[in-house]
Amino acid sequence: MGAKPDQSAADAPRAVADYLLRHEAKGLLRFITCGSVDDGKSTLIGRLLYDARALLDDQAAALISDVNRAAAIGDGIDFASLVDGLSAEREQGITIDVAYRYFDTDRRKFIVADCPGHEQYTRNMATGASTADLAIVLVDARKGLLTQTRRHSYILALLGIRHVVLAVNKMDLVDYRQDLFEAIATGYQQLAAQLGIEQVACIPLSALDGDNVLETSRHMPWYQGTALLNHLETVVIESPNTVGEFRLPVQWVCRANQDFRGFAGTLLAGSVAVGDAITVSPSGSASTVARIFSGDREVTRADPGQPVVLGLDDEIDIGRGDIICPADAPLAVADQFAANLLWMDPKPLLPGRPYWLKIGARTVGATITELKHQIDVNTQAHLAAKSLECNQVGYCNLYLNEPIGFEPFTDNRDLGGFILIDRQSNATVGAGTLDFALRRASNIRWQHVDVDKASRALIKHQRPRCIWFTGLSGAGKSTIANLVEKQLLAMGRHTYLLDGDNIRHGLNNDLGFTDEDRVENIRRVAEVARLMVDAGLVVLVSFISPFRAERKMARRMFAEGEFLEVFVDTPLSVAEQRDAKGLYAKARAGLLRNFTGIDSPYEVPEDPDIVLDTGSHEAETLATMLVRELGD
Ligand code: ADX
Repeated sequence: MGAKPDQSAADAPRAVADYLLRHEAKGLLRFITCGSVDDGKSTLIGRLLYDARALLDDQAAALISDVNRAAAIGDGIDFASLVDGLSAEREQGITIDVAYRYFDTDRRKFIVADCPGHEQYTRNMATGASTADLAIVLVDARKGLLTQTRRHSYILALLGIRHVVLAVNKMDLVDYRQDLFEAIATGYQQLAAQLGIEQVACIPLSALDGDNVLETSRHMPWYQGTALLNHLETVVIESPNTVGEFRLPVQWVCRANQDFRGFAGTLLAGSVAVGDAITVSPSGSASTVARIFSGDREVTRADPGQPVVLGLDDEIDIGRGDIICPADAPLAVADQFAANLLWMDPKPLLPGRPYWLKIGARTVGATITELKHQIDVNTQAHLAAKSLECNQVGYCNLYLNEPIGFEPFTDNRDLGGFILIDRQSNATVGAGTLDFALRRASNIRWQHVDVDKASRALIKHQRPRCIWFTGLSGAGKSTIANLVEKQLLAMGRHTYLLDGDNIRHGLNNDLGFTDEDRVENIRRVAEVARLMVDAGLVVLVSFISPFRAERKMARRMFAEGEFLEVFVDTPLSVAEQRDAKGLYAKARAGLLRNFTGIDSPYEVPEDPDIVLDTGSHEAETLATMLVRELGD
């Protein structure tokens, strides 16, 4: 994930000092602006930049690219707070339409993320918000709070933004009326309270004329608060994690020379001192802090918020993404969670499909095992849903392939916020927050059994395998699989054929043909096939299995060489012409919905182990070729 920094640096302290210097982030406020173009967002940003005498553009660009570079090499403390979300986006190479602008005043430096305002750009907003300390929510004084204001605020709250400025703009167009402003402000305070946004400042302004932007306006003497810029300069962004036990997510392992290995990152919470006993999450390895580098020197103690590099007494295995904690206050470790999820991809969320989950510097395999409900972001009502569309928010159960150290998002933005990444396109498809670990995760353990796959296979004198036939309906999968099984049986093999139509009569009789149901259909049959292979059998699976993601998921369940993807290659026109079951005719007549090849996709295998071309040979010949190919 991203290029590793130069690891051959001659001496530890210099490499360490470089690292620390690059990640100094004092006195910086990152904020995001939300609202639509009509609300005057660009005007407001323009005025702030102009009035505050922003740096020239090229300087701004240089700084931004520095920040980006630090984030892109992945060793960045960047200036981020949540999930490393932004750097994850960059590592994925996604072009996100967020413009970052830099300006400074005598009192503070600022980076503002300017995000497009339309509803479909939620993803951009989430990207900007994932690293922001504060958000300015713009509303037009003439229009008041809109659906979009609620949606944006919900997402801000979801992403852990604790400080919001409600900028009630265009006060000049409503004659600077106090009652109007107060009605909007009161309404927003209520919304913010419902959402758990702790600090709200409501400021009446006119971006166009500059009222209450840089200086307090003489048009609104009734307003007792400060102007926007003054608020931005003085607002205290308490790091939510300065209290508590120390947590050091390892961003970079510095192997500067033989004598020194340092673990670099930003202390998220608590202080650490030389001599402290530590433990590493999730491995549980233990050691003691030997050296600490912070700022430009070696110190005996470091406080949260600053980048540090720790040296330990023992050579223990620690990698990027691990978290160093006090030995007597380790992180909770789990692999199943209840979580909030904001879906950001044009293709809907499919429960059961494997995604990558990135949390802090760690990336693990993840599946949404169950979507509990969708949340209406306007009313916060819970709606029944099987899937999430782009921009929708839901509450779900999440299963990870490996356990992670975590804290609930409400306690710790950095250790409880995550993004989901599509395994094939590498696009960021969701952002979410861990709520709590599911108890069942810690109550279910692997039960040790003495008889294993190898011994079961041995008495059957065979190599257990999963032969997975994929192809269109009517391609000839079941016909060929049936012939293959007959030949294997004749050779004395112990086999079982799992056929889509048959399994759908029993185990999967609750499933239809929507994308979600097909994902679940394949997940279940792959699990069954795995059990049967574990039992020592040669298993033949004959399912359309139209999606690459699920076929890959099935492959990952098996050992190397144990899974063979067989593409039964029959063109749609041929399968449709045969139409043994009359289903293509029905689908064409509109009597059968979601039919594969007609109005539901079939993703042709990119790299199958075996292709059976049904146009060139008879089924019997293809079966014989396949059995020969198996070789044992
Ligand atoms: S899969 O897509 O989920 O893998 P599966 O192999 O289990 O499908 O089932 C496919 C069989 O169900 C087809 O051979 C066909 O007989 C039947 N069928 C009924 N409706 C559909 C449909 N809409 N799309 C595809 N197959 C269907």
